[in-house]
Amino acid sequence: PAPSLSDAFGRRISYVRLSVTDRCDLRCRYCMSEAMSFLPRREVLTLEELAEVANAFVTRGVTRIRLTGGEPLARRGIDDLARSIGRQIGQGLEELTLTTNATRLADHAGALFDAGVRRINVSLDSRDPDRFRHITRTGDLDQVLGGIEAARAAGLRVKINMVALKGLNEDEIAPMIRWCGDRGFDLTLIETMPLGVVDEDRTDRYLPLDGVRARLEECFTFVPDTHRTGGPARYARVAETGGRIGFITPLTDNFCEGCNRLRVTIDGKLTMCLGHEDHVDLKKALRGGGRAALDEAIDEALRLKPRRHHFAIAGRGAAPAVSRHMSVTGG
Ligand code: GTP
Ligand code: 5AD
Ligand code: SF4
Repeated sequence: PAPSLSDAFGRRISYVRLSVTDRCDLRCRYCMSEAMSFLPRREVLTLEELAEVANAFVTRGVTRIRLTGGEPLARRGIDDLARSIGRQIGQGLEELTLTTNATRLADHAGALFDAGVRRINVSLDSRDPDRFRHITRTGDLDQVLGGIEAARAAGLRVKINMVALKGLNEDEIAPMIRWCGDRGFDLTLIETMPLGVVDEDRTDRYLPLDGVRARLEECFTFVPDTHRTGGPARYARVAETGGRIGFITPLTDNFCEGCNRLRVTIDGKLTMCLGHEDHVDLKKALRGGGRAALDEAIDEALRLKPRRHHFAIAGRGAAPAVSRHMSVTGG
């Protein structure tokens, strides 16, 4: 059998994020520009190819797969894909998860649970309907809250992702901690990352989480918590709510040393780091040489995985660190 996956820095790769579409029904201001163009369908991995890629990684010792996008539930056939990958749970795969904006979650929650998904991450940057509409440009808050409720009713554990945005949702972080605490949802706060050109300057919205955390600690007690999901978030228990809060701090506190992951873009590029352009073409390998070529491409990628990203919010007018949008790489 092909050997399990480690990179040149001795990091074990146990986690893969699969982007299943670059499309999304929302246009979050920090993620997309208003007029995004999307890849033509022939460039995009088919459901069968996505399942094959997932299978190749599980065979090589990957224990966790996360479906992302764009908005994964916007991909036709997503329930079938989840079911197909979910068959490997208990046969090497330990966890199949999904990150979603929840607009269509009410229609999929039951099928995802049946496919073996037990935990999902939902992006929710505001609970004020007008602000939510402003940040996402097109979103309907009630639809999203309905999706979250449906997920909970279907037995899925929910983590809320909130990108901290200066002047947009700063004042909603404390209320979000309470709201999540009341519902038993984990919450992670995220620093905005400079990926892809969007219409706004990220400099104007960047909120360093070290400062946010210090201000929150004036009204909450954060008890260090060793909970880890294998992701970059560092968690604490909020004494006042009993809930968990995580901080994803690519800019203020680099976490690359413990990186355990690779990403597959929707056009089949195996990306070693969110913050680097280099990649290996899995689609070409898969369409040209099948499983053996796929394994070779994966090995090549591992040799190329860089030590860390060098994200910085470099000042007004600066180009993003990486031109590829998060929605292509697999947010
Ligand atoms: P779990 O820990 O399994 O719950 O997932 P997660 O928090 O890693 O995944 P999620 O899709 O919820 O991502 C939350 C945010 O963390 C997104 O903005 C991701 O792009 C970001 N993120 C996840 N992994 C990495 C990483 O390796 N590097 C960087 N810089 N950001 C990451
Ligand atoms: N920086 C940080 N987080 C981002 N997301 C999308 N774009 C960015 C960005 N540029 C978040 C979404 C979602 C998660 C998968 O990534 O809000 O919760
Ligand atoms: Fe869509 Fe997520 Fe990007 Fe928002 S952050 S536009 S929900 S992919």
